[in-house]
Amino acid sequence: MLKLAVCVSGGGTNLQAIIDRIGDGTIQGARIVRVISNNPRAYALERAKQAGIEGVCVSPRQFETRDLFNQALLEALQAAEPDLIVLAGFLVAIPPAVIEAFRGRIINIHPALIPSFCGKGYYGLKVHERALERGVKVSGATVHFVDEGLDSGPIILQKAVEILDGDTAEVLQKRIMEQAEWIILPQAISLIAQGRVVIEGRTTRILPERR
Ligand code: GRF
Repeated sequence: MLKLAVCVSGGGTNLQAIIDRIGDGTIQGARIVRVISNNPRAYALERAKQAGIEGVCVSPRQFETRDLFNQALLEALQAAEPDLIVLAGFLVAIPPAVIEAFRGRIINIHPALIPSFCGKGYYGLKVHERALERGVKVSGATVHFVDEGLDSGPIILQKAVEILDGDTAEVLQKRIMEQAEWIILPQAISLIAQGRVVIEGRTTRILPERR
């Protein structure tokens, strides 16, 4: 059984998608052991509670220094003994000590087709604002492993989403969530649970289904 720790900051719709796909059997061989939020008011914590999953808040505001927060985050993760950490809309720079402790075992969902519209400053609605400003005709989402860089780790899955006339950043954000994020994040977890994702340097290889 692949034990998941899911880190969240906000609404938690990606968390919900994972909970639902475990619930309906689309993801097999995985369960969420802990949800960690940096924001005590994140609705994601309520979703965890309703699903009977332990939710904990580790907020920078509870600590005098960033180092102390980073240490507490590491401890909250280690205490859950996860096999995989899923960053599902987690608006916190992952401390190097966490990456070191869980190398190759942290994944993130980014709401664009990496390497477009990613890196420093590309989070939340800003990603979609920049995509619309640039006038791209497709955007999408990417699930990737987390390394020391920003959105630079090996890509696991991507899904393209069309941009339509009249899109606002909010409308595009919602379409990308519905048509890409809520689909490929559970898919990536399912593939990892089946042992089908192999990291090869900067890339990944997805092994065929075992029959
Ligand atoms: C998603 O767009 C995710 O890609 C991004 O933050 C958003 C989180 O939404 N980085 P939710 O909390 O899962 O609803």
